[in-house]
Amino acid sequence: MNKKIVDKLNVHLADWNILYTKLHHYHWYVTGPHFPTLHAKFEELYEFAADALDELAERILAVGGKPISSLKQYLDQTLLTEAGKESTDEEMLEAVIEDFRKVSEGLKKTSEEADEAGDSVTADFLNGHVEKLQKQIWMLTATAKGLPVKA
Ligand SMILES: [Fe+2]
Repeated sequence: MNKKIVDKLNVHLADWNILYTKLHHYHWYVTGPHFPTLHAKFEELYEFAADALDELAERILAVGGKPISSLKQYLDQTLLTEAGKESTDEEMLEAVIEDFRKVSEGLKKTSEEADEAGDSVTADFLNGHVEKLQKQIWMLTATAKGLPVKA
């Protein structure tokens, strides 16, 4: 077990948990003419976060680490922020795109470090999540461009 890698995996686990809650917030509070699309999209994304965080926690266990598991630990360790003042659909989409970019870049970096540490299986696992995030970033960006420009 590589402690440095496990510590990083736990930060990613914290981020996924913050996203899980944040995406629920957007799912509940989004308003406007795009409501049906975005309400459904944010639901799809919190389910994506739920799957990702469970897979990641179980990967940490599989390599002999201990996944953090309390909301306090998630808030202490996350690199993201909770939902804030975003109120329009555009602001919510922008926030999700930015968070996904941040998480994707972080996972990619940890993947490279796992590879260097000789753990190519964890590296591949993380790249799987990066691939899914990149696809979502593309789709969300395409959705955001279809929204009216802010006044
Ligand atoms: Fe719902």
